Amino acid sequence: MADRTIAVIGGTGDQGFGLVLRWAKAGEHVIIGSRQQQKAEDAAKKANSILGGAFTVSGMENPKAAAAADVIVMSVPFAAHVDMIKSVHDSIKPDDVFIDVVVPLSTAVGGPASTALAVWEGSAAQQAARLLPSHTKIASAFHNVVAEALQRIDREVNSDVIVCSDSQEVRKVGMELAAKIPGVRAVDGGRLENSRIVEQVTALLIGINIRYKVSDAGIRITGLPTTG
Ligand SMILES: NC(=O)c1ccc[n+]([C@@H]2O[C@H](COP(=O)([O-])OP(=O)(O)OC[C@H]3O[C@@H](n4cnc5c(N)ncnc54)[C@H](OP(=O)(O)O)[C@@H]3O)[C@@H](O)[C@H]2O)c1
Repeated sequence: MADRTIAVIGGTGDQGFGLVLRWAKAGEHVIIGSRQQQKAEDAAKKANSILGGAFTVSGMENPKAAAAADVIVMSVPFAAHVDMIKSVHDSIKPDDVFIDVVVPLSTAVGGPASTALAVWEGSAAQQAARLLPSHTKIASAFHNVVAEALQRIDREVNSDVIVCSDSQEVRKVGMELAAKIPGVRAVDGGRLENSRIVEQVTALLIGINIRYKVSDAGIRITGLPTTG
């Protein structure tokens, strides 16, 4: 996809902002989406200042950001997932790729972040697939990399990113975006239904972070060819 634009819905938040920095640094056109125009613009200004001014990130309200993009990345708390999908629903065009980063943590219902919620569709990504226009090309990815590591742009991220989608072509887009982050290896996670497993691993990693008193536990799949 040459000359594409990526909109990160919830790009003002920890995870979304980290992805924005990484992709802008890699030369992608990135828009930060927010429920508030001013908040989006402020976050874009902050991103450009972190990146040293040579990179242009812009900020827009979520529906406008999604309408202006070819790749829409959803990075909001699970409690806001349904509402935020509805807010961009009409902005999604047939050729767009939608990448869901959302993890259904039990914090959405007052529980700890180290446990995952069961989602009746199977996963947050499958919930998105139920709610979005039927033509939407959906993948899920970036669940097992932590915001803190993404935002430390002077360092490599030490984790694999597993990308799931029912479309091989869309999985390829997700894997290409993952590989833009230094230190990340993109792993083909197969069908979108596998997102249930990948999303739940995040809750496990949060518990591991707590028990080992670290902040950026990640995952590595062993035994793969070195070319990935
Ligand atoms: N943080 C991590 O390390 C990490 C790692 C892996 C996966 N994830 C997943 O990535 C997603 C985003 O995580 P995050 O840590 O970036 O979340 P966050 O900072 O709490 O929120 C991200 C953004 O979501 C938007 N939002 C929309 N509706 C909201 C609502 N009702 N309440 C709060 N915020 C709302 C906010 O943007 P506006 O106010 O600008 O609209 C906010 O800045 C989550 O599903 C999380 O599980 C996070």
